[in-house]
Amino acid sequence: MNAIEINSLTKNFKKSTAIDNISLSVKEGEIFGFLGPNGAGKSTTMMILTTLLKPTSGNASVYGFDVVTNPSKVRKNIGFVQQEIGIDEYLTARENLQFQCKISQIPKDQIQKRIKEVIDLVELTEKQDEQSITFSGGMRKRLDIACGLIHRPKVLFLDEPTVGLDIQTRRKIWQYIRKIHKEFGMTIFVSTHYMEEADNLCDRVGIIDHGKIQIVDTPQSMKNKLETDMITFSVIPDKVKKEQFIEKLKTLDLIKNIKINETNMTVQSSDSTLVIPKIFEISSEIGLSIDSFILNKPTLDDVFISYTGHNLRDDTNGKFNKRKEHNQSRRRGL
Ligand SMILES: Nc1ncnc2c1ncn2[C@@H]1O[C@H](COP(=O)(O)OP(=O)(O)OP(=O)(O)O)[C@@H](O)[C@H]1O
Ligand SMILES: [Mg+2]
Repeated sequence: MNAIEINSLTKNFKKSTAIDNISLSVKEGEIFGFLGPNGAGKSTTMMILTTLLKPTSGNASVYGFDVVTNPSKVRKNIGFVQQEIGIDEYLTARENLQFQCKISQIPKDQIQKRIKEVIDLVELTEKQDEQSITFSGGMRKRLDIACGLIHRPKVLFLDEPTVGLDIQTRRKIWQYIRKIHKEFGMTIFVSTHYMEEADNLCDRVGIIDHGKIQIVDTPQSMKNKLETDMITFSVIPDKVKKEQFIEKLKTLDLIKNIKINETNMTVQSSDSTLVIPKIFEISSEIGLSIDSFILNKPTLDDVFISYTGHNLRDDTNGKFNKRKEHNQSRRRGL
């Protein structure tokens, strides 16, 4: 059984369509990344999957339970760590977790064990009795994730878990997410607008833009499908030999495009491992020496541009965050 099934899901607000007829399956046990810019529809999709919002049309289910007709069953199986930090800053880490245990109806005799389990996992043991207002952003997020985990959900939803954190802290959070995934074997559905996050953390990624899913695949396979390795090299400036060289390169099927300027050339190819030896072969035939070369493999950025026609804007301070701040008090909703 798939952990999540989404069929032709649409959500209209008064003035906009937040998600537009999306369909998607998330396999049990995978880390699935939902990658898209501000306003793409990531949080709206997550709110529907976690039963906090109702769709306009279409349907979705988590472990076979429909999010509209069977919301209590869905809630039992999920944890939701929203984009805004949901912890109570005036409580200690331990008190926050105790509160979460209460609302998740964890049996009293298991509470201490569960708290120890998650607090050790996110490495906050030393700080457990300190008020969380004294915590750094990264520590707060770790506590927030621990709160979303304590009832051992089958699916953990993480809405932009590292937004606004510096790169070291972001990497640390990825490490915790991997650890959680390994230790609990749960399905993780994580939204992000960081390419690096999707690329490093996720087994599969769905690119969403303007409410529509553009592609779903593994990051590697998305990059491979682009078939655009870029090889840039510089040659000794000998005009005649350079022209002969270019003519020969043009005869190679594997080369899609050649860009030339004063000092270097860039060749676009579907397979650099075959093309690079050929380039050196031709250059030595002609007697033209290559000084240096750089190989650039396609990145997830290139994939994003190719499917959406634009760059992923790295803007975390847009108008959408205003609304999110307003929603801050809407915690996991469990
Ligand atoms: N409660 C709401 N009322 C009206 N419009 C909304 C509401 N929630 C979301 N929207 C709109 O739906 C669209 C998708 O918003 P959503 O929050 O799902 O995007 P997102 O991908 O999570 O963006 P971000 O990266 O900024 O968090 C946006 O145009 C937004 O303005
Ligand atoms: Mg969002």
